[in-house]
Amino acid sequence: SYIKFDDSKVKKFVHENELPEMQALVTAADQELRQGTGAGSDFRDWLDLPSTYDQDEFSRIQRAAEKIRKDSEVLVVIGIGGSYLGAKMAVDFLNGTFYNTQPSSKRRGVQVVFAGNSLSASYLQELTDFIGDRDFSINIISKSGTTTEPSIAFRLLKAKLIKKYGENEANQRIYATTDAKHGALRQEATASQYETFVIPDGVGGRYSVLTPVGLLPIAATGADLNQLMKGASDAAKAYAVTDLKENPAYRYAALRNILYRKGYSTELVENYEPNLRMFAEWWKQLMGESEGKDQKGIYPSSANFTTDLHSLGQYIQEGLRDLFETVIKVKEPPYNLDVPMDEKNLDGLNYLQGMSLNEVNERAYEGVVLAHNDGGVPVLTVEIPDESEYSLGYLIYFFEVAVAISGYLNGINPFNQPGVEAYKKNMFALLGKPGYEELGQRLNRELNQ
Ligand code: PA5
Repeated sequence: SYIKFDDSKVKKFVHENELPEMQALVTAADQELRQGTGAGSDFRDWLDLPSTYDQDEFSRIQRAAEKIRKDSEVLVVIGIGGSYLGAKMAVDFLNGTFYNTQPSSKRRGVQVVFAGNSLSASYLQELTDFIGDRDFSINIISKSGTTTEPSIAFRLLKAKLIKKYGENEANQRIYATTDAKHGALRQEATASQYETFVIPDGVGGRYSVLTPVGLLPIAATGADLNQLMKGASDAAKAYAVTDLKENPAYRYAALRNILYRKGYSTELVENYEPNLRMFAEWWKQLMGESEGKDQKGIYPSSANFTTDLHSLGQYIQEGLRDLFETVIKVKEPPYNLDVPMDEKNLDGLNYLQGMSLNEVNERAYEGVVLAHNDGGVPVLTVEIPDESEYSLGYLIYFFEVAVAISGYLNGINPFNQPGVEAYKKNMFALLGKPGYEELGQRLNRELNQ
């Protein structure tokens, strides 16, 4: 299969009967997902999205990206949570760590920066300074259209845009990605005639990277959207089979549930390539928001290797034994370098001469897997061939379908997120938002106790 899933390093921890015993449950979970009989069935449209997406809108996204690449040096993407992580993860994965600092002649597209994902004034000021006097556009992304962090960032950056270009031209530099009908952003977009893109009803924030939420920022960097969608749609076909032996995404879902039930309650997703750092952040939302509810669920965490082998590595090797690891490995990273010969050999590295850095990285991976296994940590590996758009589309779908099955295996609704509302109510009450007066009084009493 296109993605190689290696579960040989959980064998020590899982009896050979356990996986076949999960088949009946996986078949039931698959039915819940495909036939819509499971909880949250209104939010399954991501399942067929890679082949049923709106072609006209897709072309409009590409045209908008072209316009942005012509008239702007910077695109500011404003959003948070599901309206941020997918785009950021994909932009980093496809363009590399130094994309924004490359000279424009070396870049396929505009610089892409993200705002509205914190409440930090310093961050926004620094971002404003980074844009300076240069030409820029804004992509504001919010399904509800009312989320506090992006709304505040949008107000501030819109003011900068209007000051620079006047209201009419500013409106033509704002692209709003939001609900088809509802919310404050939709109303504003209509009133100000922004170009708009739709976040489909049946796709939750964390499953939305292959909708305009992710697609416009990705296209602004010049990446190939067709290949991204092709990867996802091929994955949708490959992962539609129920048999655990044939479907690595389902096998991953089953194995992590087997491990969870034995007390391995924290999963670390890991990489050996810094371009995948943000992939872990996207994955954490996908997993954590889908599964962490009803007082249960695997805690999704992450580590970057080999960096964190020099920090978290100690804990992983010898700390509390409730961890398992899922490594996302790239078979052929975009570049390779040879370790050069040095006559003097003062650093003692000549034994590596003729070896490539990717080979050294590979030996590190092998050594770590064996060490962690010996230390009592089950390790799963998900290997993609390269860092192409096609592979990213494939990988995104792998985890989306896996977490849906995994959630049903654990008896929860993988598509809602009731827990993210609690803090919002408190924050609104403490900020004095109209309608929250009573809660505000109670919270202020509690704070002053
Ligand atoms: O997954 C979720 O529901 C959240 O992370 C949302 O995506 C996030 O709160 C942003 O919401 P919105 O797109 O409505 O601004």
